Amino acid sequence: MSELISPQDNSNRKRILTGDRPTGKLHLGHYVGSLANRVQLQDEYETYILIADVQALTDNFETPEMLRANIREVVLDYLAVGLDPKKCAFVVQSLIPEIADLTVFYLNLVSVARLQRNPTVKDEMQQKGYGDNVTAGFLCYPISQVADITAFGAHLVPVGEDQRPMIEQTQEIVDKFNRLYGDESEDGILVRPEGMYAEFGRLPGTDGSAKMSKSVGNVINLADDEKTVTQKVMGMYTDPNRLTGREPGNVAGNPVFTYHDAFNPDKARVAELKELYARGGENDLGKPLLGDVQVKRELAVALNAFLEPIRTRREEYSRDDSFVWDVVRDGTSRGRARAGEVMERVRGAMKIDYFI
Ligand code: TRP
Repeated sequence: MSELISPQDNSNRKRILTGDRPTGKLHLGHYVGSLANRVQLQDEYETYILIADVQALTDNFETPEMLRANIREVVLDYLAVGLDPKKCAFVVQSLIPEIADLTVFYLNLVSVARLQRNPTVKDEMQQKGYGDNVTAGFLCYPISQVADITAFGAHLVPVGEDQRPMIEQTQEIVDKFNRLYGDESEDGILVRPEGMYAEFGRLPGTDGSAKMSKSVGNVINLADDEKTVTQKVMGMYTDPNRLTGREPGNVAGNPVFTYHDAFNPDKARVAELKELYARGGENDLGKPLLGDVQVKRELAVALNAFLEPIRTRREEYSRDDSFVWDVVRDGTSRGRARAGEVMERVRGAMKIDYFI
């Protein structure tokens, strides 16, 4: 196996850990929020990408069978966007018992009140209507995420803006752990990670809501075919006050323009579109100077051009199922080796390395 993948030489590199829940195919929001950074950084860092099936179970425990198919989909998305299995270890979370062990230790270092204050968890609880019936598993998933990050000794965590509270929680627990169990002479047993937030911030949904979210159904998937992408773009939310296309339109906060900014390489044309849209009015023929339909058509073209090579690569990899699972098996075993080293240090620091 290791001959097949033969990882790059990682001695002296700093480490990255990041991950995704395998609840469906990845979408443009994932790309902008994190995948693009990962592709950029994979040459420089020892990179671990966690397929967070345990975290996915916290709100999908009634349908565990959906995880298997989605692990495959997510790995296909990784390969398709150019994450290289020689440089990145794709690790299945539930196959790393050290993460579960660390989670249990860390749960003692956080109060229930602190967990209840996590703004991302609060939003999700509200969206799902959990109220007081929230499970312990769901409320505690940020601590499991702290374990994800620290189990690999990650220095850097490239994520979307919505994950900022998880990084802050990680820093708090790392500081507390190192203070409690660290030796004064050392830098710290656990590595204190930094978050890396996408330059572009958060990509809105096609419906104009704050973020793309599979459960809301406002996403464009990396695997969507050309027709689907065009359809989704043509149905996008724009400035609702532009009834005839002659009204001066709103560019700021208009998702169609946000997507143009993120994916249309022709910046001059985007600037022109924005200018005409904001101006409004008619041309010589008495037609709107720039209708929303035109803006969307050009967006669909730009998006399809961006997605085409990704789709082609995805299609190629999807014909070789055994390669996909080999990549996962190999990445997971590299992940386990790393987590095992960290765990040994943790047990030593906590003086629970009884007879190792
Ligand atoms: N919570 C992340 C998300 O929903 C996924 C995730 C799980 C993750 N473990 C992680 C991200 C560790 C970064 C680091 O997208």
